Amino acid sequence: MTSSKELIAQDSWHQRSELDDMADLSPELEKEMERLDKEFWISGEKLKKIVTRFRDELEEGLQENGTNIPMNVTWVHRLPTGKEKGTILTLDLGGTNLRVCKVTLHGDSTDLKDPSQKYTLDQEQYKLPGSIKTATAEELWTYIAEKLSDFIDQKLGGEYNDTNKLPLGFTFSYPATQERIDHAILQTWTKGFDIEGVEGQDAAAQLREKIEERKLPLELICVINDTVGAMVASAYNDHDTIIGGIFGTGCNAAYMSSVPSIKKLDPNDARLKDSDGHKSGQMAINCEYGAFDNAHRVLPLTKYDAQIDEKSPRPGEQAFEKFSAGLYLGEIFRLVLVELTDKGLIFKNAQSDKLRKSYTLDTGFLSQMEDDESRGFADTRRLFKDVLGLEVTDEEIELSRRLAELIAVRGARLCACGVAAICLKEGIEKGHVAADGSVANKHPKFKKRWAKALGEILDWEEKGLQEDPIIITSAEDGSGVGCAIIAAMELEWRAKPTKACASRVSI
Ligand code: BGC
Repeated sequence: MTSSKELIAQDSWHQRSELDDMADLSPELEKEMERLDKEFWISGEKLKKIVTRFRDELEEGLQENGTNIPMNVTWVHRLPTGKEKGTILTLDLGGTNLRVCKVTLHGDSTDLKDPSQKYTLDQEQYKLPGSIKTATAEELWTYIAEKLSDFIDQKLGGEYNDTNKLPLGFTFSYPATQERIDHAILQTWTKGFDIEGVEGQDAAAQLREKIEERKLPLELICVINDTVGAMVASAYNDHDTIIGGIFGTGCNAAYMSSVPSIKKLDPNDARLKDSDGHKSGQMAINCEYGAFDNAHRVLPLTKYDAQIDEKSPRPGEQAFEKFSAGLYLGEIFRLVLVELTDKGLIFKNAQSDKLRKSYTLDTGFLSQMEDDESRGFADTRRLFKDVLGLEVTDEEIELSRRLAELIAVRGARLCACGVAAICLKEGIEKGHVAADGSVANKHPKFKKRWAKALGEILDWEEKGLQEDPIIITSAEDGSGVGCAIIAAMELEWRAKPTKACASRVSI
């Protein structure tokens, strides 16, 4: 039976939307919009059901290996104190760019001109060739080693050599099994990557081999996930950080778990024991919750989601990510426009070949539309012209704006579910979620929508809270600074004369 609350929540789009009507839709299009609204709107009650299942899957991932959400252990044992220092080279293999960065951490140095500036960066960004996503392992690592080599030649002079190597941290933001911090067996490619010869292999070893082959003066210290980097970089400055979340091309989050609650860890692993031989301490968990609900038990699947999944390089994987992450929002929008065009309801006078091309529209397209405050939506008109070669009518603009809102609202509300599930599971009631990624930082309304949904799930209004206790903040540079801090913490630990157990270092 549907509760009265559910009925209120299911009120029509007209009551929920923040948009002012700019044009009327034809009765046929209005009907289509009503249908789409029903398909894309996720009520507060439904969000709660999703979160219940989410918590179960997170918990299962801590219990044993091979579960749907892998809950990867990262061997990052603590958040930084803010005093960490050092010079580290970091490498970030993102979805569209490769970034190499020389990071100097100043920690709590008092001799800085600006004491709030805790680090300095010297970086270079290289646009990944379009073909790299479907290249081979050999091509990938050769390309990366070439860029590392260029950076060293151009920026480091002759400072580092075989006997004085620069520590390297690698942000590799894909699900990986880590037996130690400088090891990462790729479980599966995500975000549309499909490079042959890396899945099931240690990405760290493959990179190290290329570094050695080229005789680069680098020592790989750690491989990290972008979520862990965001959490650590933010905690360097902000001690209220509880979670690192990426809401960008992909979606995922990391948090600090107590070691005893990670049941799947080997009870005999000496690295996890205190001096009395008990499991103790903390461990950053990279949830990899983009895989949530791969079995499609709770997420309300639309035919557009199903089409995206079918055509992806890994059907059946990353179900949650395909509903909510930046890589897919523009594509969902495009698929609906194609359907309405085929029904003869829009773009009646001009066809666009570009509209027929998968992934022509990215989330930036939706962000720009939602951000458009220009007179008569001149910016949106220009966008359609520039990207799709289409002159759009007022009705088409009205429809597109509504549709962009429906899709982005669904994405933001779903993104709140992952964080809510972690907070409920861990009993976290307040703190900062350090968020990074193009959706979090570039979509004008994401954070507000995300916060509203989180409040609905966690009943903040019912509890009479005056202020949101869990706040989304903009993460510091996780893949650069966060990665460097983790490398610095690892080096600090390795240098300690008395270690609880020697086996924690790389083998
Ligand atoms: C990857 C994660 C990553 C996330 C955000 C997902 O596709 O599997 O490792 O954290 O994207 O970049």
